[in-house]
Amino acid sequence: MSNNLLAGKKGIIFGALNKDSIAWKVAEQCHAQGAEFVLTNAPIAMRMGEINELAEATGSLIIPADATNMEDLDKLFKGAVEHLGGKLDFVLHSIGMSVNVRKGKHYTDLNYDWLEKGWDVSAVSFHKVMQTAWNLDCMNEWGSILALTYMAAQRTFPDYNDMADNKAYLESIARSFGYHWGVKKNVRVNTISQSPTMTTAGSGVKGFDGFVAYADKMSPLGNADADECASYCVMMFSDFTKKVTLQNLYHDGGFSNMGVSDVVMDQFISGGEK
Ligand SMILES: NC(=O)c1ccc[n+]([C@@H]2O[C@H](COP(=O)([O-])OP(=O)(O)OC[C@H]3O[C@@H](n4cnc5c(N)ncnc54)[C@H](O)[C@@H]3O)[C@@H](O)[C@H]2O)c1
Repeated sequence: MSNNLLAGKKGIIFGALNKDSIAWKVAEQCHAQGAEFVLTNAPIAMRMGEINELAEATGSLIIPADATNMEDLDKLFKGAVEHLGGKLDFVLHSIGMSVNVRKGKHYTDLNYDWLEKGWDVSAVSFHKVMQTAWNLDCMNEWGSILALTYMAAQRTFPDYNDMADNKAYLESIARSFGYHWGVKKNVRVNTISQSPTMTTAGSGVKGFDGFVAYADKMSPLGNADADECASYCVMMFSDFTKKVTLQNLYHDGGFSNMGVSDVVMDQFISGGEK
């Protein structure tokens, strides 16, 4: 469905790795809504080359950048402004990685070098992205900056490991930097807290299938999928959300406000059905 909600808007989309990536769906929907953008990902993540397909389908340029590297980010933002022929209206940070999760290291036995790497990639990179855009003064007035997060920042999900702490830090950066963006440029900064979603990053979490099924049964509207998340991102980039800022926005079918649902409770009532 296209209503040209983003006609004339320019942006940068971080984190499209393959067709399952949330950022991939965001790029497709932003394109359908009339936006122009540059795609970026870590050089190492581009080896599979799938992002070329997305670039072709959306008429976008790819500029590789490690989101933890300030030189890469500087080149990316300068390159994007030059290619798009003007300042930016939106930025999507859709980046997450924990070495401890990847290597199956338990939360009570973390490797701190790995922790620092994951924290830099998953949380500090959001500050680095915004600081680069700030120093280059390359956001338009009333622009919108978004990062994706997960509710393990507020509630305990044991297998989410040190990513829970990274997400808490990420959400705090959104509020802290969002203040300065608002005052200086009327730019809004928010995080979207998305349901568990079957992607490369998601399925790195131990027992992820069970986790997805549980969240689905707990949520009155069921889990939100990647396409639905992309629609929410489009809305946050559109002019319909100009005064929404410093928020952590739950996009989870209602999960975050549930205690228990009938269908989950049924599993624990003796004799099965209520
Ligand atoms: N999948 C879920 O269940 C879920 C739920 C809530 C939030 N999120 C968040 O959504 C975002 C996108 O993840 P996804 O689920 O689409 O998975 P994904 O694996 O498709 O995307 C993660 C991206 O991060 C990129 N990345 C890693 N290191 C990088 C670096 N140094 N520089 C630049 N990019 C780097 C990867 O290449 C990849 O494209 C992440 O922030 C994730 O935590 C995911």
